[in-house]
Amino acid sequence: MLSRSAGFAALAAARDAVLERAGGDARDGLAGAPRVRVLTGAEGHETIDSAARMLGLGVPGKVAADAQGRLDPAALEAALASGRSPTIVVLQAGNLHSGAFDQFEDAIGVAHRAGAWVHIDGAFGLWAGASPRTAALVRGIEAADSWSTDAHKTLNVPYDCGVSIVADPTAAVRALGLSASYLEAVAGDADPHDRVPELSRRARGVPVWAALRSLGVDGVAGLVDGLVVAAQGIAAGIARIPGLEVRNDVVFTQVCAGFADDERTRALGAALAEEGEVFASPSTWHGRAVVRCSVSNAGTDARAVARTVAAFERAAAQL
Ligand SMILES: Cc1ncc(COP(=O)(O)O)c(C=O)c1O
Repeated sequence: MLSRSAGFAALAAARDAVLERAGGDARDGLAGAPRVRVLTGAEGHETIDSAARMLGLGVPGKVAADAQGRLDPAALEAALASGRSPTIVVLQAGNLHSGAFDQFEDAIGVAHRAGAWVHIDGAFGLWAGASPRTAALVRGIEAADSWSTDAHKTLNVPYDCGVSIVADPTAAVRALGLSASYLEAVAGDADPHDRVPELSRRARGVPVWAALRSLGVDGVAGLVDGLVVAAQGIAAGIARIPGLEVRNDVVFTQVCAGFADDERTRALGAALAEEGEVFASPSTWHGRAVVRCSVSNAGTDARAVARTVAAFERAAAQL
């Protein structure tokens, strides 16, 4: 599964749990049940909106975020106080454009005091917790009710290895569990298919296990550190290009840059793609064109950083 499905699985557990706390039962359907609301930061990822919609919860309410895209805990408190319905709050570890992390200790405290379930979308950022150099970014996440992440992003295993982690295993199984007369039940434990949307599925856990087993704790930390160092190197290098501005605080693996003129930024992205040495995804952040580097390949060493910066310089020189 992908992060979208991992988020879906965790939010399914969340939906059923908050409904149950409110005296409802998702097995009876949502019609007539208390309305479950989902709140995310203004820069929450689109897959969370889509997962909430697939679960019949509608488009999540948006909570104000700061300049780096971090949800504002005070705005969350106000949003929570404005309604009494069962609530799921989705926080983010790693903003797609800035790499920023929500302030988990504050936001989770606020959400839990209001009785909400807290989910963390950590598609690429949850892995910050693996390195002592970046662990502070995810401080407090252990208090959340569920997490989702992608092993195919930061951990560098093949695509389609989303991971959903729910603190209360009974909540996941209640929402997604499935039994059939032709399937042999595993005594004493739930089957993997009881916690995810699929039944027949590839053994995706094998490459994830193999990567973790071969890297070990220090290896994963080194991988994460290497990505961050590469992002910082790219940011420092391209910030020296006249007129090109790095728009985010580079706290993790994302670098977003642009010229004052959006057309020039778009032309930069096109020139990079045309040359083909480097791909920086063209995007729009805070209403302005940006080119975005998301460093996620463990092979991004000092030489790759230098090649990236040189490709940006060549592309900028052409404009
Ligand atoms: C924060 C965040 N959440 C979710 C996703 C979606 O991941 P996937 O494509 O694996 O569904 C991304 C993708 O970059 C992301 O950055």
